[in-house]
Amino acid sequence: MGDAGASQPSVESRPAALKRLLTQPELAFLMEAHNGLSAKIVEEAGFEGIWASGLSISASLGVRDNNEASWTQTLDVLEFMADASSLPILVDGDTGYGNFNNVRRLIRKLEQRGIAGVCIEDKLFPKMNSFLGEGQELADIVEFCGRLRAGADSKTDPDFQIVARTEALISGQGMDEALRRAEAYHAAGADAVLIHSKQKTAAEVLTFMERWDGRCPVVIVPTTYHATPTEIFRQAGFSTVIWANHTMRAAVTAMRETAERIQRDQSLHAIEGAVVPVSEIFRITGNDEYEEASRLYLPAERLVRGIVLAASRGEQLGEITQDKPKAMVDVRGRPLLRRLVDTMIACGARDMTVVRGWKKEAIAFADVRYVDNDAYETTGEVASLAQAVKKLDGECIVTYGDVLFRRWILDGLLETAGDVSIAVDALWERRRSTGPRDLVRGSRPFTGFDLDEQVVTLDAIGSDTQAPTGEWIGLLRLSARGSELVRDELKALEAEGLLATADLPLLLTRLQKHTPITVHYVTANWLDVDDVLDLADARNFPFAG
Ligand code: SPV
Ligand code: MG
Repeated sequence: MGDAGASQPSVESRPAALKRLLTQPELAFLMEAHNGLSAKIVEEAGFEGIWASGLSISASLGVRDNNEASWTQTLDVLEFMADASSLPILVDGDTGYGNFNNVRRLIRKLEQRGIAGVCIEDKLFPKMNSFLGEGQELADIVEFCGRLRAGADSKTDPDFQIVARTEALISGQGMDEALRRAEAYHAAGADAVLIHSKQKTAAEVLTFMERWDGRCPVVIVPTTYHATPTEIFRQAGFSTVIWANHTMRAAVTAMRETAERIQRDQSLHAIEGAVVPVSEIFRITGNDEYEEASRLYLPAERLVRGIVLAASRGEQLGEITQDKPKAMVDVRGRPLLRRLVDTMIACGARDMTVVRGWKKEAIAFADVRYVDNDAYETTGEVASLAQAVKKLDGECIVTYGDVLFRRWILDGLLETAGDVSIAVDALWERRRSTGPRDLVRGSRPFTGFDLDEQVVTLDAIGSDTQAPTGEWIGLLRLSARGSELVRDELKALEAEGLLATADLPLLLTRLQKHTPITVHYVTANWLDVDDVLDLADARNFPFAG
């Protein structure tokens, strides 16, 4: 609001751009296009305007240039062209598809679709291409002028261009008739006239031009007099040259050669180097912009990496872990680790990494990456985690490889705020356990009120924690910053010579100095597998949900 007086840079509208091309003193060029793709190619080639050729649009639809494609079907093609290119488009409007009424409706619709102008020819609906037959019937001058006047009156943008095309020369009616008609069309409101000729030389259009004497811009279509040097057109003072059908004809040549070669060879090999790569099609159609827009408008995909520490043997399980780590013990037909990984994936974790150690070859899932802690016998959990340091990037879930938990525990942990969060069992005292426990004291105990929004943070963690409020279940969530903090802490532990012996509670204790650690209380519904009794519990664990 503050700079209400500031002037906006004016952007030239497409009708205004076409008007400029038609009226500028320099010779202008319009290049034919017949669909969105050719419109883009014409623009990339450096042209300033497009001729939407009736012949080419019809041919590309596989029909004759006899108004076989309806005007609304053509309109649909034009809409794609206007969307695909920013250039002004002069549409070949044939005869206007009927009388004055069809012309004004056509112009209304063309304007609505961003078309810059239309060319109407003085023939009768349904038209035939100018190069077919001899002496095609022309429209009555007065009636045709009515079409032009109706068109001019129906413009909502005064810059929309109406080009009146006379076929007087082609239909054998002579130069005087051509000039008479052009004069009448100009007077009826045409912004420019198109003098069409099917001679092999430019002689008759040059004569027309001399006699026309610059009354309004004159457009030519040198399809048959293609050998005339362009400089002649320039010197004669024509406004605009239309290269009328050459992307369509070039496409026919290229498509035919390609199809015939592939048919002959029954192979793509010979043709591959002669056609643009698919990546070029992606470029032309603007896939990069789609990628950018997706980043802006699609909900960001949350990438949560999973890291599972599964290096230890699990001696207490005896023979069961003689040939595999405890993470691979069977739990009702599937390895414990498989069940754990599946739960994590079900909760949205991706890019899963397992740190292996003891009998590493026993762990081989196709959808999981591995890193190895080959010093698993003499080092601890943090040393294992350090092997996966490259994966500690962005949001991560870190877990021991011998735990099982119900899905909602991880779902809840993923909902927590903060850079580091741990799942803590508030009902720990009910749990049978033979091994040492990672006891936790939270800033306050579990209350049982799910809706309690006050965040509980970690005061202390370790097997000797005083006045514990729960037990860490071995599941840890890190935000992107949390992962960064862990990477820093791993470096610090290494520098202090503590990396080999450190356990995760020590790591958490140290992290706590840099960021509050969120305690996410859960109530049972998890287990870890240390001994055969745990294993029996695991085999009875309810996996669904
Ligand atoms: C077209 O391109 O459809 C034209 C020009 O109208 S011509 O084919 O020469 O008639
Ligand atoms: Mg045409």
